[in-house]
Amino acid sequence: MTGARKTALIVGASRGLGLGLVDTFLARGWQVTATERTASPGLAALDGDALTIESVDIDDDDAVSELRTRLGQKSFDLIFVVAGVATRIDDPLHKVPREVAVQVYLTNAVSPIRFAEVFVDRVSPGGTIAFMSSILGSVSLNEAGGSDTYRASKAALNTYARTFESRHRARPFGVLLMHPGWVSTDMGGVGADLDVATSVAGMADVIESRSGQRGIAYLDYAGRTLAW
Ligand SMILES: NC(=O)c1ccc[n+]([C@@H]2O[C@H](COP(=O)([O-])OP(=O)(O)OC[C@H]3O[C@@H](n4cnc5c(N)ncnc54)[C@H](OP(=O)(O)O)[C@@H]3O)[C@@H](O)[C@H]2O)c1
Repeated sequence: MTGARKTALIVGASRGLGLGLVDTFLARGWQVTATERTASPGLAALDGDALTIESVDIDDDDAVSELRTRLGQKSFDLIFVVAGVATRIDDPLHKVPREVAVQVYLTNAVSPIRFAEVFVDRVSPGGTIAFMSSILGSVSLNEAGGSDTYRASKAALNTYARTFESRHRARPFGVLLMHPGWVSTDMGGVGADLDVATSVAGMADVIESRSGQRGIAYLDYAGRTLAW
């Protein structure tokens, strides 16, 4: 059984959706490597033979390459970069200090793709590289405005992911941009539509059903395609 286990690297798993994904994939029999920035009580509580806990800040290029070195030749059926921030999400662009806008862009758009580049040869054939996007990253669905810097960062992530997929099209993996729904986490807040368990179960179903598929898709937690 152990040899047949699927493997996942979940990046940004200390709490919220990342932690929920780790819990769900472990329950489905996967071998999971999960990353935190600082010690996560939530991850520690899941500790078991199928879970390896690592540490990385995706904004730190040296830390990302050190993680690659620590993981050696290990490859994964799924690499999912979940980490993200929503700093000053309610403020319009012109009210947000430039350095805050830049940091949101770096963490949400630049760092996930740079992380994927470092691990691009660590995805197993038929596997998936997934990025945590948002419906707010859709340019065409932006009818109401708001969430300016966050929205733009996820739109940039979508664009970078499409370019990443083109650059690596000859490689044997698929790329997914996921919208988890509006979920009750530290980021999503208490008034959200979904709980973590519902969202992550849906995303895990989507990921498992797309195993072996190439190309890129922008999907929500229920498997519905979103407009770019
Ligand atoms: N919740 C929603 O409704 C919703 C909707 C659409 C999309 N999303 C996206 O889903 C993802 C997870 O969101 P969430 O709701 O679970 O948020 P959350 O509860 O605030 O968790 C954010 C996670 O990202 C990690 N992180 C942030 N910056 C990082 C960095 N530089 N390096 C490594 N890890 C970093 C955090 O680690 P620390 O604990 O160390 O801070 C934490 O594990 C994000 O990309 C978010 O944009 C969420």
